[in-house]
Amino acid sequence: MRTHNFAIAALVAAAICGVTGCRKHAETAKSDPLLAAYDSEPDWNDSAKMIPLSYQQAQGKRVFYQYCVWCHADATPAGPSNRSNLTPVPPLLNDGATLNAESDEYLQNIITLGGSAMGKSAMMPPYGRALSAEEIRSVIAFTRAIAQPPYQPPGRPGSQYSAK
Ligand code: HEC
Repeated sequence: MRTHNFAIAALVAAAICGVTGCRKHAETAKSDPLLAAYDSEPDWNDSAKMIPLSYQQAQGKRVFYQYCVWCHADATPAGPSNRSNLTPVPPLLNDGATLNAESDEYLQNIITLGGSAMGKSAMMPPYGRALSAEEIRSVIAFTRAIAQPPYQPPGRPGSQYSAK
């Protein structure tokens, strides 16, 4: 009789755990931003952490790995990058300490016109002919998404956009 009661109690406990366990699992799945994202990128400073990317950021990731990874990352799909051979050494694209302070407009300009047009090194090529303005906006969106420390948009976003 005692064994019987114990068995019932164990079954009830298992049933309750099972139900709450399932519910908890469903909630985690629903709130996981990676499941709703177009793509993701590992945090370059912590590869165990994945950063979810919006559609625009995912387009920017594609542009980055085609055009920029060779100078703005240490590892490329083809092996180590050229970055450490350049003077000045280009900032890593996730270098929030450097790039978070730059406005979207400045980034759009230097990527479109190149370093020399902005009083910087001519080693930074101009992409105004290779990439559309939309593609350049997307690579900026990707830059913001992977920034470490994280990028905080300015309080008055209107002040960032040019009047064109
Ligand atoms: C051939 C190497 C090379 C490639 C390819 C390259 N860059 Fe650069 N980039 C540089 C160098 C070098 C600098 C540093 C210029 C300086 O500080 O004078 C730079 C600077 C920059 C800066 C300005 C950083 C700052 O704080 O002023 C941005 C933004 C940037 N690059 C974005 C890009 C993007 C986006 C791409 C791809 C579309 C790209 N770069 C491709 C070499 C490169």
